[in-house]
Amino acid sequence: MKKSMLVLSVAALSVVFLFAVVTATQQAADTMTMESKLFPTHKKGLVTFTHKKHNVDYKIACADCHHVYTDGKSTWKEGDEVQKCDVCHTEAKAPTGADAPKLSKKEKIQKYYYSAIHSNCAGCHKDLKKEAKPTGPTTCKECHPAK
Ligand code: HEC
Ligand code: HEC
Ligand code: HEC
Ligand code: HEC
Repeated sequence: MKKSMLVLSVAALSVVFLFAVVTATQQAADTMTMESKLFPTHKKGLVTFTHKKHNVDYKIACADCHHVYTDGKSTWKEGDEVQKCDVCHTEAKAPTGADAPKLSKKEKIQKYYYSAIHSNCAGCHKDLKKEAKPTGPTTCKECHPAK
């Protein structure tokens, strides 16, 4: 009798454990060093991004930074999978110069990670600065430490 009870509880425990593993949500590090592989070498110092602080202390919603567009509208909601920005913004940086193709800001952002990330990070900081609200860095060297 005792033995069968033990077997039963072990079986029950494994079910609970398996369930926890299967439903475990995707984790984000509290602080991230941004280092996309789209740049074989980084010209600038690596940027430290306080992911948790942005969400918890500065009260910025996940969907201000994470999205998945369907027919021009973001359908991403909290709990959905998060992919790295460069999975979709797949090119490093728009070419410059006289013979570079003329792209709109929107086209640049969609294609180039460099444009997408600066528009998101520096764009928000600049907007908040204009509104005279607490904000983050807006100059190159405040985000990119000296190398
Ligand atoms: C709000 C923070 C922020 C500001 C301000 C900012 N950057 Fe960045 N920058 C980033 C982040 C984040 C990345 C992505 C780095 C990565 O994932 O590898 C990046 C990437 C880059 C890269 C490509 C990677 C490299 O090091 O070669 C360059 C070049 C760059 N930034 C230059 C600039 C310049 C020039 C300015 C000022 C006009 C500037 N950044 C302002 C955050 C910032
Ligand atoms: C201010 C912008 C911002 C906010 C707010 C934000 N995130 Fe992020 N998150 C990022 C950036 C940037 C990355 C790094 C992506 C990359 O490396 O390409 C990231 C990475 C992640 C990752 C890891 C993805 C991976 O594959 O490494 C997860 C999971 C995540 N975020 C979930 C969330 C959730 C859930 C929330 C809200 C509770 C949230 N984020 C709020 C910007 C933000
Ligand atoms: C699943 C694909 C996908 C991922 C992952 C993704 N993006 Fe985007 N993003 C898009 C598409 C597509 C658009 C263009 C939407 C449009 O213009 O209608 C876009 C638009 C943008 C825009 C301009 C519109 C807006 O929402 O402000 C910014 C800025 C941007 N992305 C930054 C980021 C950053 C930063 C990350 C990582 C934290 C990221 N994206 C991850 C697909 C993605
Ligand atoms: C939607 C708005 C928003 C976006 C997007 C955003 N930030 Fe910020 N950031 C803030 C605010 C607000 C503060 C500071 C508020 C305060 O000090 O009370 C801040 C502060 C910072 C600081 C200085 C304090 C700290 O926590 O390190 C850095 C560095 C920074 N942000 C980097 C980034 C980078 C890199 C990204 C993009 C990956 C980003 N931010 C995206 C709003 C934003």
